[in-house]
This record gives sequence, C-alpha cells and structure tokens, in this order.
Amino acid sequence: MVKLVAIDGPASVGKSTLAKKLSKKYKSPILYSGKLYRAVALEVIKRKINPNNVREILKCLSFVNLKKLESKELYSSEIDNISSKISAKKQLRDELIKIQREFPKKHGRGKKFAIIEGRDIGTVIFPKADYKIFLWADAETRARRRYEQIKKNGKKASYKKIFKEINARDRKDLTRKIAPLIPASNSVLLDTSYIDIEQVFKALIKIILKT
Ligand code: DC
Repeated sequence: MVKLVAIDGPASVGKSTLAKKLSKKYKSPILYSGKLYRAVALEVIKRKINPNNVREILKCLSFVNLKKLESKELYSSEIDNISSKISAKKQLRDELIKIQREFPKKHGRGKKFAIIEGRDIGTVIFPKADYKIFLWADAETRARRRYEQIKKNGKKASYKKIFKEINARDRKDLTRKIAPLIPASNSVLLDTSYIDIEQVFKALIKIILKT
C-alpha cells in the first residue's frame, strides 16, 4: 500500500523543494495542495468574482483540474493574496478535500509513497498519514531566502515587500477559523531556520527509514 507523506508549514518554508527531493528519490507523485487554491483564485480573478462571494467561487471549481495546476500563471502577488483570502472559506475547503483525498488512490498505485504538501494535510486532510512533517522557519529567514532566490534568477525584488507579504499570509494562515496552520499532534517538527534544505532532507529520510 502506498504510504502517505504529509508536509505542512507556512509560506516559503521549503515544503515544495523538500517534496520534490523526496519525489525524485522514490519516484513518488506529489500534490502541491496550495495550487488547488491558486487555480481557483486564478479563475476568480479572470472572471472578476468578488473573493467573498462563496457561491460564485464554488462555480470556479468546475474549471479546476490537475492539468490546470501546471500553469505558470498560478504564481503572482495577486494570486498569493486572493488564494489566501478564499482559502478561509469553509465550503471551498470542503470541496477541495475530495480532490486531495483521492490523490493517493488515483496516483499512488504501485508507488512506495505519495506526497502532499500544504497547511492542513496532517491535521484535516489525512489525520492518519503515515508520516507527518511540519516545517518551520521564522518570517525573516523565509523572506531572506525568497529574496535571494528571486535575485539569483536575475529578477528584481524588494526584501521589505516580501517580508510584509509573508507576514500577511502567515497571519491569515495561522488565525483562520477553519483548518488553521498548526502542527498535527503527532507530527515531526523540523525548524529549518538554522539548517539548509539538504539537512532537512537527510532528517526526513531518517524518519522515513526508521519506521
Ligand atoms: O502553498 P501555497 O503558497 O501555494 O498556498 C497558496 C494559498 O493556499 C496559501 O495562502 C494558503 C492556502 N492553502 C491552504 O489554505 N491549505 C492548503 N492545504 C494549502 C494552501
């Protein structure tokens, strides 16, 4: 049976990098659950829907499928902001639960692991996940890493703006009533503030091989 690895944590903490490394090692399928919220946000923006209009937001779901999650359009400040806003809507979260729970069944056949990263994977989506990892780093560290990554890609960036945006998203993720970002009671907490992603990956492999 495919084993589920749930990786949760705040924005820009390195969840997707870690998930990708694990996926490469074990040829495992990954679902970046944030992309589901981003894909809905993209439709909300394209259709000029009010991000508080739940009925209209739910209609956008019919345009979202796994193929849409590959779109490059999913990453912008506007999508960061709208996806964060709409992710507080219970009805939307309930609808997206189904897609997430089906993922390992649909894509994990014959595989050792299926990986899902997000905010509530170990708490709400898969409370019985085989491995639950909660990544953490303070907001300054995450903003600095994001800033350096953008600069490395030859693009312009403002550390101040990134730091402000990360703080705003943290506030929304941590304080929303439905499925807030918190470590699952039986998760392994890895603080990446003083270790790099390579060391985090080694720790994760140890955890996986131990059990
Ligand atoms: O991981 P990300 O930055 O791509 O996520 C985009 C937004 O979706 C983020 O503001 C939080 C939200 N999200 C969520 O509420 N629950 C998840 N499981 C994943 C993401």
